[in-house]
Amino acid sequence: MIRAVVVGSLNADLVLDVARVPLAGETLPATASRRLAGGKGANQAVALARLGAEVSMAGHVGDDADGRFLLAGLAETGVSTRHVTVVPGSPTGLAMVMVGADGENAIVLLPGANAVPDPEWVASVNFAGCDVVLAQLEIPLPAVEAALAAGSAAGALTVLNAAPALPVPGSLLALTGVLVVNEHEAVQLSGCATVDAAAAALQHRGARSVVVTLGAAGALYFGGGERLAVGGLPVRAVDTTGAGDCFAAALAAALASGRSADGALRYANAAAAIAVTRPGAQDAMPTASEVDAALRD
Ligand code: RIB
Repeated sequence: MIRAVVVGSLNADLVLDVARVPLAGETLPATASRRLAGGKGANQAVALARLGAEVSMAGHVGDDADGRFLLAGLAETGVSTRHVTVVPGSPTGLAMVMVGADGENAIVLLPGANAVPDPEWVASVNFAGCDVVLAQLEIPLPAVEAALAAGSAAGALTVLNAAPALPVPGSLLALTGVLVVNEHEAVQLSGCATVDAAAAALQHRGARSVVVTLGAAGALYFGGGERLAVGGLPVRAVDTTGAGDCFAAALAAALASGRSADGALRYANAAAAIAVTRPGAQDAMPTASEVDAALRD
């Protein structure tokens, strides 16, 4: 069993179903609302656990009902919350998620307690013996960098899902074994016009390998002089929220367990294809046997 530490965000997702994501200045009626467990970090922790990893989540929640809801959900999934700090006086992170009938989404995020992590807190997290460290960009960059540095020092594979897209320093990329981005994030992070040029630039700035997700069109891997592609699987998307988190977690699990880059890309692609067919983020994460079955079909 692989051991993973996820350092990142925990959010309550207030989800509104809409016919389509509204334009600026437009008001649309929602057909349903749900309060679900989310946050890129916690979503990735749940995905790893469903895929069979031993997972420790490191992050912050507020001392409120949303925080207790998120902690209970992680514990129920078997994720250790020993390194989730409860912050008095700060709200738990809150994401307003609008999901259109085509499964596409738009998100507005209030960071709340996710703004608290810093390198001193990261130093209190136990990375000893872990195989993979996974981080995203919904907590402050110095904490992300400290987490990847600690993961590297522990000999773990370091995976950075650079979402949402923010300018990232070369010092962070230099600690990144696998950088996972979607095509928009690749272009935004690199300033390059094409995915191939972006991947080359991000590797030049320090990332050892770069994986670019292309939504329904599949994903690309760039590393060790190789360029690998996997095509999208034909599924009907009902909710794409958390699909990127599922992909990053499944890729991390597959690489850490010794799959080849090509095998890991296919594994993550299949996992994300399952996730988009179900509503919610954490609720949509597939099990290892579901992914194995999808790969056989
Ligand atoms: O990646 C999806 C996640 O982004 C949602 O769960 C929401 O909380 C935002 O952080």
